[in-house]
Amino acid sequence: MNWLCLLVLLATCGLAHGTWDNCGGLCGYRSVSYDYGAAAYQYGHYGMTRVVGGTGAREASWPWLVSLHHAWIPGTGHMCGGSLIHSQWVLTAAHCFDDVSNISLVYVMIGATQLSHPGPGAQIRYVKQLRTHQYYNNKNMKNDIALLELDYPVLCSPYIQLACVPDFTLRVSELVYCFVAGWGATSARASTSSDLLQEAPVHLIDLKLCNSSEWYSGEIHSSNVCAGYPQGFIDTCQGDSGGPLMCKDNIAAYYWVVGVTSWGEGCARAKHPGVYTSTQHFYDWILAEMAASPYGSAS
Ligand code: ARG
Repeated sequence: MNWLCLLVLLATCGLAHGTWDNCGGLCGYRSVSYDYGAAAYQYGHYGMTRVVGGTGAREASWPWLVSLHHAWIPGTGHMCGGSLIHSQWVLTAAHCFDDVSNISLVYVMIGATQLSHPGPGAQIRYVKQLRTHQYYNNKNMKNDIALLELDYPVLCSPYIQLACVPDFTLRVSELVYCFVAGWGATSARASTSSDLLQEAPVHLIDLKLCNSSEWYSGEIHSSNVCAGYPQGFIDTCQGDSGGPLMCKDNIAAYYWVVGVTSWGEGCARAKHPGVYTSTQHFYDWILAEMAASPYGSAS
């Protein structure tokens, strides 16, 4: 087969799969099978080391999770998390860029678990464009969502897979096996990020309860998801922002990215769980932004 044939074939495959998928049409599958079992949920202590209250993740555990780096940040350079939702697009939080004036200093590490030793499975990309939500409000954190278009598409591998983003038909509140992961601080007082990816199981928390008087008393928007534990102890923290809140589909073996880590009062405090931007709520926005790219790479 000559190159032209191959190109035509690739182009047709791309079209057939639509806007989202180009990792063989799959998303949300973890390359290696991990069976946490129900024990982590029943006993709720799950290692108790450290995200806050999580444990170190194994290689390629969450192959859509990316680390956003800034050239000026000392140490590993880690700034925020993100999720790969297309070979050239990363979903993250808008507030990650509150203090970034020059986007060309930001780069994306994909397929790594330990940031100081990203290994042969990792790929680095620069940012072609940043699209923050037009109504993102850094005072009340409404619409805390952004998309990064990468300079070149990444290649899928056991280390690099796409995340699934749910549309309105998924009943997110019925999902039970949910996890957070990130390179953020492992305690509320720690100022540095974690070299090794941390992960922890969390429960989705009813928005009414999350917004009640002893909890976040009205600060939660309908476009948020709350996740964690009433008693605290396990939570995302500084540096986990932009990364995913992920739940396994109730029937299939793949995971949905249902939230983008946004904020919380302190970390792992009782009645102050993590607050996430609902990806389902912004499904149409995500599609429209990718389709509207002046570079047209999502089509
Ligand atoms: N805003 C934080 C960041 O920029 C994420 C905080 C999440 N906090 C929490 N308690 N769950 O990394």
